Amino acid sequence: MDNTAALSVHHLKKTFRTSSNRNEVLKDVNIVLEKGVVAILGSNGAGKTTFIRSCTDLLDYEEGKIEYFGKGLQTMSKEEKNRTFALLSEGSRNIYYKLTPWENIKYFAAVRGVPFNAVRSQSKELLNELGLYDKRNQLVENLSRGMQQKVAIICALSMNTPVVFLDEPTLGLDIESAFGLSSFLSSPEITSNRLIIMTSHDFNFIERTARQIFKLQDGVMKRKEDTASFDNAFILKILHPDIDKLQAARYEILERHDLYCTIRLLTTALLLGKEIDRLNQEGHEVTSVEIEGENLKDFYLN
Ligand SMILES: Nc1ncnc2c1ncn2[C@@H]1O[C@H](COP(=O)(O)OP(=O)(O)OP(=O)(O)O)[C@@H](O)[C@H]1O
Ligand SMILES: [Mg+2]
Repeated sequence: MDNTAALSVHHLKKTFRTSSNRNEVLKDVNIVLEKGVVAILGSNGAGKTTFIRSCTDLLDYEEGKIEYFGKGLQTMSKEEKNRTFALLSEGSRNIYYKLTPWENIKYFAAVRGVPFNAVRSQSKELLNELGLYDKRNQLVENLSRGMQQKVAIICALSMNTPVVFLDEPTLGLDIESAFGLSSFLSSPEITSNRLIIMTSHDFNFIERTARQIFKLQDGVMKRKEDTASFDNAFILKILHPDIDKLQAARYEILERHDLYCTIRLLTTALLLGKEIDRLNQEGHEVTSVEIEGENLKDFYLN
């Protein structure tokens, strides 16, 4: 596989029109993604599903360019598309209810021209991870809604495409299954060689799972700063502080009380321990440390 971005989208524009109404959902969406797990946040109606449906050739768009590994979506054959991306659609039937989970996986592999042997072990692992291995030979129509959702997720992920879209994969999943899915999506075998783009309204799931987070708002895609870049600002609470000494050492004092103060410390996560040792040796009593930065809720709401 070449080094160009797994998915790049430039100036994507999509407007829904009715006789009386014009809804400009995607105004100018730009995003370039390499491998890893990426989450897209956005309020109901922000256009997340519209974006995914445009990228998976289920929806026409009026302007823009969508490329997978440098190749334009519009120039790809059906087989190329099948080999390149898979999709878990939002809230719709993604699988056949008259088949078993195992038969569904076989069916989707066959439709995509993927030899079943190539997806067998990964499918087994996914069934195990999501607690469905025992149900692999039961008809999907007799499974619970959450289990059906899991089968659909497994079908999308087990096809070994380098790009996978999961539109609201956590819908209907219980806490344990969401954890199982999160740990599966966080495993290096999954993320090191493919791009997974998901949407979810479950912040805990996103924080645990995604390496990069975007928000679709007002028709454009905004990127949340990577968590790593926040790692150099820490807020420390110090008991019985010697303010003069702290100021002399050029610490930035944020709050100042008789019994304690809080300071901001700019350093890396690796050097933080040494800084705290130094402060303690100087007679300060560091009682708590927090990473400073915009959390996911702030990013979503702002
Ligand atoms: N086929 C369609 N025809 C007309 N309007 C549509 C169509 N599909 C979506 N829309 C409109 O486009 C907007 C974006 O919808 P979309 O489903 O992409 O939002 P979303 O971000 O996925 O929301 P949610 O979080 O609820 O899933 C909404 O106003 C919706 O009504
Ligand atoms: Mg949606």
